[in-house]
Amino acid sequence: MEKPNHHIFVCSSSRINGPQQGVCMKKDSIQILANFMEEIEDRDLEGEVMLTNTGCFANCEKGPIVVVYPEGVWYGKVTSGDVEEIMDSHIENGGVVERLKI
Ligand code: FES
Repeated sequence: MEKPNHHIFVCSSSRINGPQQGVCMKKDSIQILANFMEEIEDRDLEGEVMLTNTGCFANCEKGPIVVVYPEGVWYGKVTSGDVEEIMDSHIENGGVVERLKI
């Protein structure tokens, strides 16, 4: 894969060892990851968009957290239902989803 145009980080409260226990994971961040994966595949953007699950961003009360680079935009309280809008607006058209921005 060449350097992606966008890199999407989704907090899945990952831990190196043991089960995931963090706040974002309990708020359905695994489904958010799955939806991003599906949207990226459906839109044939695998070469342009990289998706990575992460550990805690230390902003749990606003979780689930999604961060999009290169813009460095942080989205909070993201639901799996918001993924399509982030893909349509931000990833495909460069428009930050202001209602989710933190
Ligand atoms: S567990 Fe996601 S920001 Fe803390």
